[in-house]
Amino acid sequence: MICAAILAGGIGSRLKQEKPKQFININHKPILVHSVGTFLNVNEFDKIIVSSPKEFIGMTKDLMDKYFPQNDKIVVIEGGSTRNGTILNSIQYMKSQNCEKDSILVTHDASRIFVSEKLIEESIENALEVGAASAVIPATDVIFESKKEGLLTDIPLRKYLFHAQTPQSFNIDKFLEIYGDLSEEEIAILDEAMVLFNLRGFNVKLFQGDQGNFKITRPFDITLAESIFKK
Ligand code: CTP
Repeated sequence: MICAAILAGGIGSRLKQEKPKQFININHKPILVHSVGTFLNVNEFDKIIVSSPKEFIGMTKDLMDKYFPQNDKIVVIEGGSTRNGTILNSIQYMKSQNCEKDSILVTHDASRIFVSEKLIEESIENALEVGAASAVIPATDVIFESKKEGLLTDIPLRKYLFHAQTPQSFNIDKFLEIYGDLSEEEIAILDEAMVLFNLRGFNVKLFQGDQGNFKITRPFDITLAESIFKK
């Protein structure tokens, strides 16, 4: 089984909107609808698992029915309290469908609305081959580390630094095996799935993402996204 998890289980605090950012319109369509639409164009998926904060599940289902009526690939599930919690809920959904061993989950931040079908396909291929894979783009700015308030503590070499994007895809049985072996302290510091593979020394394939595949996070990103559609 190959499934997509469209991660929209969070509220998105940096935009400071009263509703979760996945419901904000860009080019007259909600953010979530853009991402789900692109994933529906990729034939490999058995299911597209769309997550939502508990109190917005009704709204998410209504949106899916409106834009993708009677689409039996789409399922809406409740998100978790963390991003990885939402990923775990998506894996549990796959298990509830009796997916075969070594099934693949492709996770994607709903707010990366410019993801391409090519990136999604590459992500699946790399996860099948290596077990886990993430789209990345090389850091263009020098990154300063500051572990003391307001002071520079280190400058990691830029040639080794990459910005992680999604799609991030992996073998769900490997994920569960590693997750089951983690201590509570390790679970507490996990904020994304690839950290987990890295913690236990599993290879994570990094493949070339796309500058256009940015995450709508701050008000400027909305302006940028709208202007891309006007181009
Ligand atoms: N996410 C999720 N479940 C959570 C938390 C986050 O599915 N419990 C999803 C978000 O909905 C988002 C993606 O994970 O699509 C990336 O989230 P994150 O990087 O944590 O932050 P943002 O949602 O971009 O927003 P902000 O940083 O402003 O809070």
